[in-house]
Amino acid sequence: MCGITKVYPNGVVANRNINLNVEKGEIHALLGENGAGKSTLMKILYGIERADAGKIFLEGKEVHIASPLDAIRLKIGMVHQEFMLIPSLSVAENCVLGIEPRRGLSIDRSKAIELTERFGAEFGLPVSHNEIVAELPVGMRQRVEILKVLLRGAELLILDEPTAVLTPLETEELFAALKTLVTRGKTIIFVTHKLKEVKQLADRFTVLRDGSNVGNGLVSEVSEAELVRMMVGRAIEVDVYKKRTTKPGAEVLTVKGVFYIRDGRNVLQNVSFKVRSGEIVAIAGVEGNGQAELVDILVGLRKATRGKIFLNDKEYTNAPPKEIRSQGVACIPADRIGRGVAMRASIEENLIADRYFKREFSRWWGLNKKAIREHAKNLMHVFAIRAIAPSTLVGSLSGGNIQRVVVARELSAGPQLLIADQPTRGLDVAATKFVRQRLIDERDRGAAILLVSTDLEEIMQLADRIIVMYKGSIVAHFADIESVTPELLGQYMLGVERQSEKEAEGAWNC
Ligand SMILES: Nc1ncnc2c1ncn2[C@@H]1O[C@H](COP(=O)(O)OP(=O)(O)OP(=O)(O)O)[C@@H](O)[C@H]1O
Ligand SMILES: [Mg+2]
Repeated sequence: MCGITKVYPNGVVANRNINLNVEKGEIHALLGENGAGKSTLMKILYGIERADAGKIFLEGKEVHIASPLDAIRLKIGMVHQEFMLIPSLSVAENCVLGIEPRRGLSIDRSKAIELTERFGAEFGLPVSHNEIVAELPVGMRQRVEILKVLLRGAELLILDEPTAVLTPLETEELFAALKTLVTRGKTIIFVTHKLKEVKQLADRFTVLRDGSNVGNGLVSEVSEAELVRMMVGRAIEVDVYKKRTTKPGAEVLTVKGVFYIRDGRNVLQNVSFKVRSGEIVAIAGVEGNGQAELVDILVGLRKATRGKIFLNDKEYTNAPPKEIRSQGVACIPADRIGRGVAMRASIEENLIADRYFKREFSRWWGLNKKAIREHAKNLMHVFAIRAIAPSTLVGSLSGGNIQRVVVARELSAGPQLLIADQPTRGLDVAATKFVRQRLIDERDRGAAILLVSTDLEEIMQLADRIIVMYKGSIVAHFADIESVTPELLGQYMLGVERQSEKEAEGAWNC
């Protein structure tokens, strides 16, 4: 890609004269802070966005890519971070969707199955063709996404933050598969914020900052610290946190014997635990093991079938969300776009969505626009939300900046109980560090924090205690963090290991 420039209609220059050179058969890491222009550049390559200037060459020949169909024809494939599979269909059906092999007028099912299995075996991505996608763990779904792209003949694969939702074991498996792909002559562009992964996997890298190129080269010749300096423009110490040693105080959240039954199945099964003031309790688990339903129940978006929930000894089981929030509960939801923001509202509107009715933001019968704007400006500054103005629509922000809007609103509420579900997913190095430190600061201030995360590194850095959930039950509880390793947690998360009921009850008898 040569001299790519992209200006969005609102005047944001997302790409400024960018060059990206990817060689055949390599894994190329594309790096940069939130809003640096990575996704925009990849969308241009895949035909979702059009560049205002610049040229794209494929194997030396200039190409014009006006739509994903053009891209697919040119053997370029993209695996989006939000999976695009159809949950109710089988693995094979998803893989051949839109390119179904036919026999006469009907779909040739056995051919579809054969294709899926053959590609899976050839590229080191084994799948069971007849399983329904909805039943699969996330790592397996991602495998299906990649297979789907390969079946469409992709030679160049774009992966936008593919490891954000994977366990360590699943990440290892993905990396092994990607390495197999390049030995088969495929080429991969890999967008990520995780520098360890870059060191482990990629051959070369390109760094963007503020829409411009700031560096590229061989991964083997740079350190993680140098990559950070290129991305951020200055050196920062990553993974260093200030945490006071404190004794947890009174119980803030008490969850007792909660069941959630859907279609006759126990999505949550007898879940009991406590979170005290001044501690961070982490729930580790592979996505889809009941954590999402638990969080929904805690914030009033779903009703527990059985069981009780108390906040400071006051029961609030199945109370409406507004009442729960007014008791000092805040939540950073995992699905930031569906649950965290209103995409077609502005930053300032989103930042008062939970408090517009308060006195400081109202005036006579309307809103106090000036106070709202000041509030937004202040939070945009503190949480480094990158946008032209408080009136900018949230829908036009980069993934990481949308996350910052949610985090800013929830943390600035000064909660007693903060539920943080994947709070740093998609955030860049500096923002991740900032949010993790803020969670610790809230804890030190005395808030009770329930952290739900699939990122074990995050859990190891922040948690005072760890609960592991598998298939809707608490299968392990660790009060002594020092004795835990990510590998060990991974075993429990995948259901390979399980504590005795008595041990797991530590979550309740802490
Ligand atoms: N549809 C859009 N309309 C207007 N501005 C946009 C649009 N999409 C992105 N932008 C802006 O373009 C810039 C680059 O965004 P982009 O999504 O490419 O960043 P990114 O590097 O992928 O960041 P992240 O790591 O947060 O995903 C940002 O300032 C963003 O606000
Ligand atoms: Mg992006």
